[in-house]
Formats: sequence, C-alpha cells, structure tokens
Amino acid sequence: MIHFDQATLIYRPPHAALKDVSFSVTASEMVVVTGPSGAGKSTLLSMITRELVPTSGRVVVAGRDLTAIRRAEIPLMRRSIGVVFQDFRLLRHRTIEDNISFVLRALAWPAARRRERTRRVLEWVGLAHRANDLPETLSGGEQQRIAIARALAPEPRLLLADEPTGNLDPERSFEILALFREIHARGTCVLLATHDRMLIERAKVRVLTLQAGRLARDEAPR
Ligand SMILES: Nc1ncnc2c1ncn2[C@@H]1O[C@H](COP(=O)(O)OP(=O)(O)OP(=O)(O)O)[C@@H](O)[C@H]1O
Ligand SMILES: [Mg+2]
Repeated sequence: MIHFDQATLIYRPPHAALKDVSFSVTASEMVVVTGPSGAGKSTLLSMITRELVPTSGRVVVAGRDLTAIRRAEIPLMRRSIGVVFQDFRLLRHRTIEDNISFVLRALAWPAARRRERTRRVLEWVGLAHRANDLPETLSGGEQQRIAIARALAPEPRLLLADEPTGNLDPERSFEILALFREIHARGTCVLLATHDRMLIERAKVRVLTLQAGRLARDEAPR
C-alpha cells in the first residue's frame, strides 16, 4: 500500500526534514510512526497524500508512483486515502451530518447513498444522536470521532491520522485507539503519527521511529 524508497525531503537546503527513508507497509497493516517533535512525522504523511513530493527517492502509494503521477491523476489518487488531522478541521457552521455528507457530495455520491453512509459512520463512532448539532457543541474527543467518521465515509483503503489523540486525555485516547483498531480489523490500512508513548505501548502494532529525519527503528508488534 505504501512504499518509500530512499525518500528525502528538503524544505530549505541544506537541512533535510526526511533523509533516505525506506520502508513498505502492506494493505493489511496498522502502523504507528513516532519520533520527537520535528523528526519528520507530518512531513512523511504529507508525502503519502502527495502534498509534498520527495526531493529525491520515490514514494509509491497503492501502486502509483507519486513522483511520476500526472497532476490530473492526483484528485483520484487522494480519494482512496482518508486523512484525520489533529485540529479536526470540521466546518464550524455546518451540522455534524453536513460535515460528513459534504465530503461525499464532493465525490458525487447520490443523496440517498450519502444519507445512508453518513448515518452508518456516525453510528459507528457512537455519535448518530448528535447528527444535527454543530461541531462546537461537542467535546474534543467527540469532535475527533467526527473527524474519523468523515475520513472513513468514502470507504478509503488507507487511513492516515496525524496526532489523532494530541488533545485528548488518556481515557479518550484509548477509545480513539480502539476505534482505529476496529477500522483496521475491518480491512483498512491504518497509519498513525503520534508521540504518545502510552498509546504506542497499548497499540501493539508495528512502530516506525524517526529521528532527525531518518528512520531510526522499525519494530514489529510485541
Ligand atoms: N513548511 C516547512 N518549511 C520549512 N521547514 C519545515 C516545514 N515544515 C516542517 N519543516 C521542518 O521539517 C522538520 C520536520 O517537521 P515535521 O512537521 O514533519 O515534524 P513532526 O515530526 O511532525 O513534528 P511534531 O511532532 O512537532 O508534529 C522540522 O525540522 C520542521 O521545522
Ligand atoms: Mg507533526
């Protein structure tokens, strides 16, 4: 699903934010990317969505070489990826239901299917009863669950999340972790970036550790 081949990213020469990073993740895996602040975690995620293109090396996602992909192909490629941002990025003046349905409308899903899918993902994250409320009336953990529901709505093959528990207390963090595990168990490839040690201990998944832009460790689940 994800293949990095000696990928290097330089924002401003000569400092490389990612340097010679190579790893592969299969479609059936769940992986955590960790490392100290500034190690390159968000940079790595942005290369998977092709917001950033490697300065050298190669990034291949779902069989597409993102260093060679044509501009016109990028939107289609992004549709197969769900992204959960740390700051949620929910639309403030739209209801929860609209926040999710909006994404499906952009993908030209017909109205009936949109409604059905929106209800399904909201039930799944346990927030169907809040469908008509505005995001600001939800707690941080609840908003995070909405952001996850929105990312999952188009049935992506790959789910990326950058610090998905960054704003949550340990209890809520474990709920979110459980949700990601369930998403993975249902057949979605999941890649989380986090520096939450407790979460990583509990997750029992493969852990890639970045240090100053280099892949320092690649540990199998314990
Ligand atoms: N747009 C940018 N322009 C220049 N340098 C950048 C840019 N974005 C990130 N960097 C630098 O690249 C390095 C990696 O940043 P990145 O955001 O990927 O780290 P991170 O591991 O996600 O950190 P955090 O845990 O704080 O989110 C850092 O040294 C950062 O200062
Ligand atoms: Mg980051």
